[in-house]
Amino acid sequence: MPINILAIESSCDDTAAAVISDGKVLSNIVSVQTAHELYGGVIPELASREHQLHIVPVVDSAIKESGITLSDLSAIAFTRGPGLLGSLIVGVNFAKSLALSLDIPMIDVHHMHAHVMAHFAEDPMPSFPFLCLTVSGGHTQIIKVTAHNEMEILGQTIDDAAGEAFDKTGKMLGLPYPAGPLIDKYAKLGEHKFEFPISKVGKLDFSFSGLKTAILYFLRDNTKTNPTFIKEELNHICASVQETIIETLMLKLIKATEMTGIQSVAIAGGVSANSGLRNRIESEAKIRNWKHHIPAFQYCRDNAGMIGITAHYKYLSGEFCGHDVTAEARLGF
Ligand code: KG4
Ligand code: ZN
Repeated sequence: MPINILAIESSCDDTAAAVISDGKVLSNIVSVQTAHELYGGVIPELASREHQLHIVPVVDSAIKESGITLSDLSAIAFTRGPGLLGSLIVGVNFAKSLALSLDIPMIDVHHMHAHVMAHFAEDPMPSFPFLCLTVSGGHTQIIKVTAHNEMEILGQTIDDAAGEAFDKTGKMLGLPYPAGPLIDKYAKLGEHKFEFPISKVGKLDFSFSGLKTAILYFLRDNTKTNPTFIKEELNHICASVQETIIETLMLKLIKATEMTGIQSVAIAGGVSANSGLRNRIESEAKIRNWKHHIPAFQYCRDNAGMIGITAHYKYLSGEFCGHDVTAEARLGF
């Protein structure tokens, strides 16, 4: 009998479910919440309510698309944390009820491990060790990965995440949330015309709060003299901000390869969908002779496929959790 896992992800604003059979993704369904567009960020209470509305139809679609039935399931996997507590609780409680009613084990998954493990959803898979630059709306980390369930953070942001830098820039430019994909789109039409600071924070850590302040003052000063500045220069502003964020990320990733001697790199998380970052990894890999791994778009953003893949390897090593498990908003790495 194959190992069939139903995986549930509800850590932030996407309700997702997937079915994984012997480590292969049979279905990967995501329901994207649009309720936050107007607010410039995720509203936790709204996110939790939306998860409650969507979780049953999303799980239903994942099961139907996979072609298996509930009685074929070997285990239920879910995101335990980190994330928004009210969002996580919906997924955890749903997973618990289903696992109890089917009398099957549960596997708790760390959301950031899962972003890294997304690289094991499809061929070619990275070989160990490799460095993963995980860049999302809540995290920015350089992770040294030595086995499927062995990874260590070498550096991370001390304030805002890279995705947050995109989203907060978008808010200042009057773009809807999440602004990352829109900035990416406009950046393709512009040039790196404006200079913004690159943070000098130590070792392999990152900081994006200085950039945010610099953009705020830059827009304030320029719109004072020209009220239509943002409209006229939108593409160039987007290209300049995007380039600055990519440069900040790449400087530290290059430093990490030099410090560890590891020449195999990967990117993960929502920001790894960014076309500029994807191109830069490609070109840097060519220059520096790196092996590189860029995930398919469906595995960049939050999804349950990555939760199920992580759970598959935990299943193989017998790592289950009790049915009394609770969500952990600040789950340690
Ligand atoms: O991994 P993810 O879906 O959720 C979190 O765990 O946070 O990442 C969402 C983040 C948002 O900040 C969004 O603006 C950013 O990923 N993002 C992008 C792009 N697509 C999504 N940022 C830059 N360029 C993109 N193409
Ligand atoms: Zn994420």
